[in-house]
Amino acid sequence: MALPDEKSFHMTPDEFRRCGHAVIDWIADYHSRLESLPVLSQVKPGEIRASLPAGAPPQGEPFEALLKDVEKLILPGITHWQSPNFFAYFPCNASGPGILGDLLSSGLGAQGMLWSTSPACTELETHVLDWLVPMLGLPEKFLSSSTGGGVIQDTASSASLCALLAARERATNYTSNQKGCDGRITAYVSTQTHSSLEKAAMISGIGRQNLRLIEVDDKFAMRPEALARQVEADKRAGLLPCMVCATIGTTSSNAIDPIAEIAEVCRRHNLWLHLDAAMSGTAMLCPEFRHFQSGVELADSYTFNPHKWMFTNFDCNCFWVADRKALIQTLSILPEYLRNQATESGAVIDYRDWHIQLGRRFRSLKLWFVIRYYGVEGLQHHIREHVRLAQQFAECVRNDDRFELAAPAPLNLVCFRHKAGDEANQMIMDRLNRSGHLFLTHTKLNGKLTLRLCVGQTHTQQKHVKRAWCRICEEAAAFGPGQP
Ligand SMILES: Cc1ncc(COP(=O)(O)O)c(C=O)c1O
Repeated sequence: MALPDEKSFHMTPDEFRRCGHAVIDWIADYHSRLESLPVLSQVKPGEIRASLPAGAPPQGEPFEALLKDVEKLILPGITHWQSPNFFAYFPCNASGPGILGDLLSSGLGAQGMLWSTSPACTELETHVLDWLVPMLGLPEKFLSSSTGGGVIQDTASSASLCALLAARERATNYTSNQKGCDGRITAYVSTQTHSSLEKAAMISGIGRQNLRLIEVDDKFAMRPEALARQVEADKRAGLLPCMVCATIGTTSSNAIDPIAEIAEVCRRHNLWLHLDAAMSGTAMLCPEFRHFQSGVELADSYTFNPHKWMFTNFDCNCFWVADRKALIQTLSILPEYLRNQATESGAVIDYRDWHIQLGRRFRSLKLWFVIRYYGVEGLQHHIREHVRLAQQFAECVRNDDRFELAAPAPLNLVCFRHKAGDEANQMIMDRLNRSGHLFLTHTKLNGKLTLRLCVGQTHTQQKHVKRAWCRICEEAAAFGPGQP
């Protein structure tokens, strides 16, 4: 607080309380009117900027003016990811407890780069990630009480990059951090693996040319025998294979790579096995879906995003390793100004050694809130419901002669297309998205334009999925029956 004779531009605690209530009211109102807003933002490029003043305000403005402009200037440029009619990409859902946990994290404003810079940041994170190990049916070696442990990262992209860096170091006996890469290190993904692995190959110095894209089967899952052949060929050529990334639920079609068979290739050649379960990892909360990750006990690392499907607002990625020493040895660096007694004692975790950046937010707070508020039972209930609704939608597609499923739908993503061809599918999608009634996106499977409908928004119910199917059928009417 400012002394009476001190000039201050700060928000006073009383003002903060008043404005804070207004913001919470605005968010609550926003969530209750979400269904009346067009899901996909309808603005043109540059429209939002054109509505903003050219320069910053010389004098401060009342908070009410700021909130008014969110409504007037910003909202039209928002695609409503929290709309129950959002079926695009993979979800990025949120919930009341998640949002409030995030707000509290901002309120505390703690920076948890070291245990000593806020012990609760580190210890709650370790604890919640340990909770998640049995919740997701993950192996005990990922527990902090074992050889491994978990950490929250911003995104799956960062987690997979860390896995690749640790794999690279392990394969080179921790020399590539010192000397750089010599162009001999190779890594393996499938043609369907998320592009973040390609980026990781670029950033890690392994190089895109040394990232092998292994072919997939008719279900878009990696072929383990093709993987084995490629690894053997690379070894014969004097290269140094370091890591395989298998996916539980690929982005394009939700394909599930055969983990156990891939793990066997990794075991034979001493390769790091990283599992990317960015969205579908959340399904593992339900024991009946865990067969999709059978073989997980053989993985060296595993990542999933509570910020996709587990009601924890962006950003929140969980990343576990079986051997934390390999990760820490890869990423640890200790300048004099960070030295402290707790670190030197070796009795604490310093998460700055577990990821790329130094500073870190108190993300575990929102994850803790979500898990405690819903409980395992609540989370399972909603995930099962999303899967049930997606399966119902897949059934509608199967029963309609004009459409076909383009890939298996193991969980909450349905890939489908109108039989009239690419142009028809593009038109159906464009018209639906322009209508604002729902939002879905596309991919290409076997060279054909394919529509994707993913059920994962927090408040999506049966009526929303039913309406989506009705709207799709309405737009498809223009094309008559499909050509088989
Ligand atoms: C399978 C998979 N891996 C990784 C990612 C990247 O996620 P993030 O945005 O958290 O980096 C995605 C994003 O959709 C994904 O589907």
